[in-house]
Amino acid sequence: MYRKTYVEIDEQILENNVKKIIKKYNQYQYYIGVVKNNAYHHGIKIINTLIEAGVNYLAVSSLEEALEVRKYNRDIPVLILEPIPLEYIDDCVNNNITITVENKDYVSNLCKIKLIAQLKVHIKIDSGMNRLGLKDKKEVQEIYELLKKTKNIFLEGIYTHLMTSGVNDFYYDKQIARFKELIEGIDLTEIPIVHVDRSLTLVKHEKLDFTTGVRMGIVMFGFNGSSKWGTGLKAKLRMLKRNRFIKKHHISPTILENDLQVKPAFKMYSHVLALRKVSKDEVVGYNASYKVKEDGYIATIPCGYADGVTKDFKYVFIKNNRYEIVADSSDMLMVLVDEKVKINDKVEIIGDNITIQEVCQRLGKNSYQLFNLIQNRVVRVYKNKDECIEVKY
Ligand SMILES: Cc1ncc(COP(=O)(O)O)c(C=O)c1O
Repeated sequence: MYRKTYVEIDEQILENNVKKIIKKYNQYQYYIGVVKNNAYHHGIKIINTLIEAGVNYLAVSSLEEALEVRKYNRDIPVLILEPIPLEYIDDCVNNNITITVENKDYVSNLCKIKLIAQLKVHIKIDSGMNRLGLKDKKEVQEIYELLKKTKNIFLEGIYTHLMTSGVNDFYYDKQIARFKELIEGIDLTEIPIVHVDRSLTLVKHEKLDFTTGVRMGIVMFGFNGSSKWGTGLKAKLRMLKRNRFIKKHHISPTILENDLQVKPAFKMYSHVLALRKVSKDEVVGYNASYKVKEDGYIATIPCGYADGVTKDFKYVFIKNNRYEIVADSSDMLMVLVDEKVKINDKVEIIGDNITIQEVCQRLGKNSYQLFNLIQNRVVRVYKNKDECIEVKY
């Protein structure tokens, strides 16, 4: 590593997370690890850790991502969550890649192709999100029948995507009801993988008895969606209001808190590249944006908005103390420190002290978006048992 700014992915944590999820929610046959977008920016390399821990199917967004998976694992089945152009179907067949179908014309054309070997297909149902999927019952039935009778096509799965976790709303119930209605004419016992839940619905609802699989994304990366209600008067009032809403709209029971001890495996570190003394009234950074209030020190950290980090992150952590980021630039942050900080000290940007949740709250983003912020130019270092491997994406 030439520039000592890196994301550390702790594969032991990922392995423990997956094992804990499978142990707690142990009624599924298919644990589909959602690893789109370079495994939520953790790096696709981690798939083998997830697989060792019990994930037995993967899901990605595109054929490019599926082929990337194949560089690391030849055997694990991979589902592409978005439809792909029919001209690339042979690539799927040749690489054991499963496709999603969600449109009648597409399926008619697919079934006319002379396939060189078996192609696995999952039908996507639109139960209300209006993003992808079939929303007409007759079409669902027609597609089902067409796929079933087409040589070399194996209808392996059927699924939908839930737009909310169904905690303070009735959309979860509505979507489940709509899904059931749309697939009424289908014999689910003939389809091995029926998958509806995603991370947050997995932890917040009882298992749906007709599902055999679950798609797990953010929960594998350390977020259990547990919401604490607190004990004060305000919390009690909120709870009362919620209960009234639930009663009024006949919302199914949800599990608010859980003891699933998953942890983020994604940490980001840098070091003190330069250090200077500054006096009261000196200014720091572009546009002289920060004016020094009293004599002190500025530490320069080789990490900036080209890496995805801005001064809105607010603090970094060095040697047991938090220090304020007072200015930023494309490649460097300037941090107000004291005499305890020395050149080359390790700087935590995201980790056990400056947590993802804290930064997300400050930036008004969720964890999916925060992972996305951190750019691929930041080297990933993989920690696994005694091994440490650097990867540049
Ligand atoms: C179709 C689909 N399924 C599952 C997931 C995983 O969601 P989560 O990270 O909430 O588990 C996603 C994520 O965007 C998705 O688009």
